[in-house]
Amino acid sequence: MGKGEGFGKTILFGEHFVVYGLEGIPCALGKKTTCEVKKIEGEKGYELEDNRPVADEYKIKKKEEYDNLITAILSHLEIDQRIKITLNGDLVPASGVGASAAAAASLSEAISNEFGLNLTKEQINESAYAGETAGSGTPSGIDNTAAVYGGFLVFAKNLLGGPNKIENITIQKPIEIVLINSGVAALTKEVVADVKKLKESGEEKFTKILDEYKNIVEEGKKALADYNIKKIAELMEKNQELLRKITVSSDLLENIIQIALSAGAKAAKLTGTGRGGSVLCLTPGKELQERVANAAKKAGYEITLTTIG
Ligand code: MEV
Repeated sequence: MGKGEGFGKTILFGEHFVVYGLEGIPCALGKKTTCEVKKIEGEKGYELEDNRPVADEYKIKKKEEYDNLITAILSHLEIDQRIKITLNGDLVPASGVGASAAAAASLSEAISNEFGLNLTKEQINESAYAGETAGSGTPSGIDNTAAVYGGFLVFAKNLLGGPNKIENITIQKPIEIVLINSGVAALTKEVVADVKKLKESGEEKFTKILDEYKNIVEEGKKALADYNIKKIAELMEKNQELLRKITVSSDLLENIIQIALSAGAKAAKLTGTGRGGSVLCLTPGKELQERVANAAKKAGYEITLTTIG
């Protein structure tokens, strides 16, 4: 039996802007999806046992996306034999945490181990990207890169097709965060396509937004290196403002952001696709983290407590 794993992720800066080749800053979560792959008798294809901690409703909704993702990975890795795939792990699949990328990464690694392919991290990442592309349209690769490499990264998609930029970031000490799950699952494919339409309908305006974002990520890297929480918070707010402008926020997300800010979060922004998914709250120190988490729980939301860095 071959085993593999893939981390969930959150994006501190740059969702959507990374699709256009700008730098983004993702951070792997401590939680992951694990996968076991076993060759079995029968026709080419697969059987899936999905034991990830999420309601059947989510699995049913996402079935087609996962069928496409798995089929693309099997084809990418030229697997002709029937396999049993079992997904497990403590990552709670919700949109915004890179659940499909974590599954794609874990499956690619597990296949490599079961079939003795000896894939490098880079090749596992390429395979996970093939799965993500089939499942979610035209992704930048930020989610599968965070899922495969883990850690805190600067990522930039190479729009010319060469290797993507993947650099590790280190900070003085981890910063507590709270992820608040809106409970609404948005389809990355659709939201990315809508942003593309927006770009095409007003290239000049969109270029201005991209330019503003470039400053945010440049200053963001410096603020992280300096461990300047106040600056990081300010930049997260600016990033959220640009996400509003490209129409990927929603009333629900804005409401969640207000709950977090009222409870004392230093900043709160959507993370990942938007129009649902999760809100990332910057809550340095365990006490503030607990306070914001309790406010979100009281308002009826599911939360994840973790750290970045
Ligand atoms: C989704 O986690 C991040 C997006 O930027 C899409 C992508 O980069 O593939 C919205």
